[in-house]
Amino acid sequence: MASWSRLYQRSGANTISESALRMGEVCAEIEPIGGVRVRPWRTSDAEVLVDAWHDPEIGRWNPVPADRTLEFAAAWIEGTSSQTVASVGIDVVIVDAADRIFGEIGFQVDPGRKIAELGFWIASAHRAHGHGRSLLGLSVALAERLELVGLVAITDAANAAAVALLETSGWIEVPTTSARRTFARRLAA
Ligand SMILES: CC(C)(COP(=O)(O)OP(=O)(O)OC[C@H]1O[C@@H](n2cnc3c(N)ncnc32)[C@H](O)[C@@H]1OP(=O)(O)O)[C@@H](O)C(=O)NCCC(=O)NCCS
Repeated sequence: MASWSRLYQRSGANTISESALRMGEVCAEIEPIGGVRVRPWRTSDAEVLVDAWHDPEIGRWNPVPADRTLEFAAAWIEGTSSQTVASVGIDVVIVDAADRIFGEIGFQVDPGRKIAELGFWIASAHRAHGHGRSLLGLSVALAERLELVGLVAITDAANAAAVALLETSGWIEVPTTSARRTFARRLAA
């Protein structure tokens, strides 16, 4: 696995905050899992994002914007295009071999602690086919590629699908005083 310093060198930067290694390059190096792989959002994906924002299950468990128009979705995606290995917010999609979007991975990175909070969803038409489990595997691979040391996923206790998925995918529940449930995954970095 590349070290932080090698990531800097490849991006021509001296510090991670100066790094310009775009997520497209990072995603391309990650092996598919279960027939799906990661890639950055593209503005042509805006309709898929609008559909996801209108999905009741995604709206119930994930933060979605008040403005769920095609224009705002395209602008939101455009905002992700400058994301690099040094970004605090990293948003990518998982796609099959035909480039159909099955879901989204979102990281909120704490650069100081080298951990990220993971947000995720699988589009309703593609649930219950094991893609959620593949998404978690790809999230781990992406986080390790970014040389993070841990991931956490915080979910509402009533979100039975997410809780079951995390519990059966090797994530360890961390005791908290919150009503929400926190699962953690230590990484190989
Ligand atoms: C949670 C979510 C990502 C699961 O995706 P998925 O592709 O349907 O999950 P998978 O098919 O990979 O299922 C893997 C395991 O999760 C569990 N699981 C999935 N859906 C479940 C459900 N509705 N109820 C109970 N367990 C469920 C099962 O244990 C399953 O294992 P099995 O196939 O051996 O039975 C999906 O339901 C989703 O996007 N929900 C809305 C958004 C959301 O909740 N995001 C997470 C916010 S923290």
